[in-house]
Amino acid sequence: MDERVSFLAILWHLLEMNVPFLILAPMRGITTRFYRQAFVRHFDGLDAEMAPFIPTVAAEKINPKLLRDVLPENNSGLPLIPQLIGNDAADFVNMAKALHDLGYNEVNWNLGCPHKPIRKKQRGSGLIPQPDRVDALLETICAESPCKVSVKVRLGISNKSELMNLIPVLNRYPLSEVIVHPRTAEQMLDGKVDLGAFALAFQEITHPVCYNGDITDLAFFQTVNTCFLSLRKFMLGRGLLSNPFLCEVIKSGNPQTKKPIERLCAFHDEVLANYQTVIDGDLPMLGKMKEFWAYPITNLSNGKKLFKKVKKAQRLSTYQEIVKEFLAEATWTA
Ligand SMILES: Cc1cc2nc3c(=O)[nH]c(=O)nc-3n(C[C@H](O)[C@H](O)[C@H](O)COP(=O)(O)O)c2cc1C
Repeated sequence: MDERVSFLAILWHLLEMNVPFLILAPMRGITTRFYRQAFVRHFDGLDAEMAPFIPTVAAEKINPKLLRDVLPENNSGLPLIPQLIGNDAADFVNMAKALHDLGYNEVNWNLGCPHKPIRKKQRGSGLIPQPDRVDALLETICAESPCKVSVKVRLGISNKSELMNLIPVLNRYPLSEVIVHPRTAEQMLDGKVDLGAFALAFQEITHPVCYNGDITDLAFFQTVNTCFLSLRKFMLGRGLLSNPFLCEVIKSGNPQTKKPIERLCAFHDEVLANYQTVIDGDLPMLGKMKEFWAYPITNLSNGKKLFKKVKKAQRLSTYQEIVKEFLAEATWTA
């Protein structure tokens, strides 16, 4: 009997080890609480979410408005990891304390944002080529943050060896995870992800590693999964926004989805309704919904035409008619 129990325990462990852990990437302006709340009600397969970055500020400037995207009452029900961007250890620690008071046990440090104004302020990816500075910051942050700390990085600003020079520093601290997006900051989101450079980083990083970049379909997920057998965590951004069924597809191994248009339509309606609780006026609402459509249109048979019409809409009622009309005729091509 004992032998059978331990055999089943080992089998269960092996099965669990094979199940990928899928995390929604932070996408500022898009994967807001309104989007996240609706997403988990309509789609399965996602295991956790990372919220878009919040800039670190001095203790006296921390207020509920700054933290409202991650207030627990606004959460979707999935584990959420707040993300901070900044280069001041005291501010970071104070923000981590505020997040800990809200119930969070983990916070992510954004060391990957590629945008020039952010880089110029030596935040985000601007810190990657400065291992000594990151070292000094992590020393205080890791000693004083009540939350576990993970980092999200790129390969460097222009030079892929920059991350390799930073890794010994990252390895010295008790980070909970390192999320690697294998592009340089100068690439932004252009060109291909560099799986060779990811392999080198993966080999050197002693912390749990999460892969992020260009997972847009089952085939590419399987490529990464097969290349890095011990990798268990994957972060999905634009691919999941374009195909919200992707986590279900990855977990089931079956690319077919039942009633995709009806489900997309119900999700869209809920995102719209969520935003209507806080956004006043047709034009700001239309701005938000245009961002929404920028991704799934790639998988709709009439997506390009839909997006053209949506971009021209001036009234929310016209927009809603356009969406209804196009979705009635659309087929899902993913
Ligand atoms: C509109 C937009 C906003 C983003 N905002 C953030 C952010 O707040 N924090 C962050 O770490 N990355 C941010 N990213 C980067 C994504 O999290 C992710 O690393 C990137 O899109 C690559 O992954 P993907 O190929 O799966 O989309 C953003 C990307 C986009 C396109």
